[in-house]
Amino acid sequence: MSWTNLRNSELKERAARVIPGGMYGHESTALLPSDFPQFFQRAEGSRLWDVDGNEYIDFMCAYGPNLLGYRDPEVEAAVQAQMERGDTLTGPSDVMVTLAEQLVGMLSHAEWAMFCKNGTDATSMATVVARAHTGKRKILVGRGVYHGAAPWCTPGPAGILSEDRGHIVYYRDQDPQSLADAVKAHAGDIAAVFATPFRHETFRDQSEPDPTFAREARRLCDIEGAVLVLDEVRAAFRLSRDGAWAAFGVRPDLTSIGKVIGNGQPISALVGAENMRNAASSIFVTGSFWFSAVPMAAAVATLKIIRESDYLERLERMGQLLREGLAAQAVAHGFGLRQTGPVTMPQIFFADDPEMRLGYFWTAAAVRRGVYLHPYHNMFMNAALSEADIAQVLQATDEAFDLLKAQDRTQLPLEHPPVRGRLERAALLSA
Ligand SMILES: Cc1ncc(COP(=O)(O)O)c(C=O)c1O
Repeated sequence: MSWTNLRNSELKERAARVIPGGMYGHESTALLPSDFPQFFQRAEGSRLWDVDGNEYIDFMCAYGPNLLGYRDPEVEAAVQAQMERGDTLTGPSDVMVTLAEQLVGMLSHAEWAMFCKNGTDATSMATVVARAHTGKRKILVGRGVYHGAAPWCTPGPAGILSEDRGHIVYYRDQDPQSLADAVKAHAGDIAAVFATPFRHETFRDQSEPDPTFAREARRLCDIEGAVLVLDEVRAAFRLSRDGAWAAFGVRPDLTSIGKVIGNGQPISALVGAENMRNAASSIFVTGSFWFSAVPMAAAVATLKIIRESDYLERLERMGQLLREGLAAQAVAHGFGLRQTGPVTMPQIFFADDPEMRLGYFWTAAAVRRGVYLHPYHNMFMNAALSEADIAQVLQATDEAFDLLKAQDRTQLPLEHPPVRGRLERAALLSA
């Protein structure tokens, strides 16, 4: 079937009338190449179908939550079984206790868990626990790092007061010296230091997890009596079956986890060390749907697969195959490609492409050939991807490189001028 986007265009027109901006948030395609579909109809395994029936091998994985493959049979069975018993009840089901036991058993630094819905719930809750524990005000975060969409952390300035961020202090992400300077400047009033396991920001090259930064963050927090919060909402269980910094011997006080734990069911968590238990018990946080049993049952099933299967090794193997294949194709076609960060979370930019004209053209060509790649956000591997999938992907990307090579570079369109400003800001953060 040839690629079309008629139904998607119709839906976008209807949406523009009844949904602000036609769509909002991180899944809006407003800044993406115009061929990218906004609306989808279904998904299975490594595949996703848009509303026009176009089939994609999907490397966005719902922006992270799809870890095992869409509609993983064991997770689906757990969801169905719990649905029949009930979901949102007058109190939590016994599954909540089982889930907390299992999560705590898997994360070497964690002694307790609290559940919520989105990553933002978990990171925001971490600020409250940290302030309750320390009685201090300042929250140190890496500049440009995404911790969610609440007023204290959303990247969009509209509707946000400077007072909302009055006690947020920024340091240069993943930079031990910059963190040390920020700690020194606010010594005596620091509640928490937030960090992500590695740099994985939109529009920027990623970094690898860095033991020097991890250990320095721990050391500075210990000296200062501040709470170390590791925000693993995006990276959890794609680097390790334990916490991401466990391999460095670094134990955060609090870890926010989201996206993957229910393999797509709405559930996130804040987990913590023993020294945080009293503060976590003292705060009031809740939500009408935080205790629903179906996502918790999905999470129990997902965590079991994480513990007992080779899903992580498969992610790594497929991620490596993809990276090597793309690198070879880029060389063969005479393009420079920057593929950064862990192979399980690929981020791809063209070299010498300051306005992303090459990246836009190439990813749009891939989309038209059934491969959903993102031009400026990190992507995600899932355990349903097979070698045959990667071969199919590489066939499509080879054609996309061919097509790109045939273009006059100076004539490639700049589809979204605002992207230029965002790239410039990202370059400033990286400088
Ligand atoms: C590191 C990090 N923290 C927090 C969040 C917020 O999570 P959510 O979108 O589920 O609120 C995200 C989302 O991408 C994230 O990547």
